[in-house]
Amino acid sequence: MKSQWVRTLRTGVEVSSYFGIFNINIGKTKSGSKFLKLLVGDRTGTLEGRVWDSALTEDLYQTLSLGDIVIIRGSVTEFNGLQVNIDTCTKVEKDQVELNDFRPCTDKDTAVMLKEFQRQLAEVTTPPLRSLLENIFNPDFLNDFSRATAAKTIHHAYGGGLLEHTLEVMSYCEKIYELQGEAINRDLLITGATLHDIGKIWEYDQECLSFNRTEKGRLLGGHVILGYDFLREKIAQVDGFPESLALHLEHLILSHHGQKEWGAVEEPHSVEAVALHYADLMSARLNQVSKLVESYQGSENWTNYDRRLGRSLYVPEDLKKEKSS
Ligand SMILES: [Fe+2]
Ligand SMILES: [Fe+2]
Repeated sequence: MKSQWVRTLRTGVEVSSYFGIFNINIGKTKSGSKFLKLLVGDRTGTLEGRVWDSALTEDLYQTLSLGDIVIIRGSVTEFNGLQVNIDTCTKVEKDQVELNDFRPCTDKDTAVMLKEFQRQLAEVTTPPLRSLLENIFNPDFLNDFSRATAAKTIHHAYGGGLLEHTLEVMSYCEKIYELQGEAINRDLLITGATLHDIGKIWEYDQECLSFNRTEKGRLLGGHVILGYDFLREKIAQVDGFPESLALHLEHLILSHHGQKEWGAVEEPHSVEAVALHYADLMSARLNQVSKLVESYQGSENWTNYDRRLGRSLYVPEDLKKEKSS
C-alpha cells in the first residue's frame, strides 16, 4: 500500500503516496500570501511539505490534524533539504492503512515474533494459567498487542515494541529457569513475563503516530496498575482459578519494576518476582543502550551523554566503519 518511502525520495521525483502528518503551520510569502507548512513522513523519516495554493491552504489548515494519514500528490524539490510541493492532499481513514508504516517500528519480523510468542505460550500447561492466557490472547487482542509500543521513549519505543520486549523477557525467564530451575515455578514465571507490561496497551495511545500517554495512563498509575486491573478482571473469568496462584501472579505484575522509585507498587518478594524483574531490566537496558549506539552518527568514539543512562557509550571503530559503509 505504501509505495514511496521517505528515505527513497530524491529531487525531481513525482510523489503519489501515503504520509503521516507530523506538524502543521501557516507561513507567509514575501508578497503576503499564506502557504501551508507541513512536516510529513513515514517510518523511514520525515520531510517538509508545502502547499502554495491559498484556497487549499485554508481548507487543509481547517481540516487536517496532527497524526492524520493522507495521500499526497506533488513533486520533490530541494530547499534547505528535501521538500515536497503538494498539489493535492487527501485524508484517509486510519483503519485503511497499517499505522506502523507511519511511525517508528520494530526491525524484527512481526509474523516471526508472533509465531515464537505463541510457541512459548503453548508451553504453559498448568490448567488455570493456560485458561487465563487463552482467554486473553484471542486473535483481536493478539493483533492489538503485536502492533503496540512498549513506551513513548526510553526502550522498545516503536510499533511492535511491546511484543518484541515481552518476547525477550519471556526468553530471558526461560533461560533463568533452565539455569536455576529447581526453585522456580516455570509456568507462573512465563505467564508473569507474558503479562507483565500488558497495561501498556492502554497506557499509550496506540492509534497515534507519536505514542502519547493516555489520560487513563497518566491518571490511573500507568501500566502497572492498568495491567493489574486487567489481570484481576481476566482471572475472575476463569472458573476455579486458585487464590494463591492469583495472588502470586498479581504480585509479579505489581513488583516487576523492582523498586518503588522505579514505579513498583511492591518490591519483588518471591523467586519468580525477582527473576522477572531482572529479565525485564535486562531487556529494557540492552534495547536502550543498543538503540543509542545504533543511532549515533558522529565521528567520535563516544555517543553524546545520555541523561537517562547517566553516561556516554563507547562506539567501537569497526562498528562506525560498518555504519558508514
Ligand atoms: Fe513495566
Ligand atoms: Fe517490561
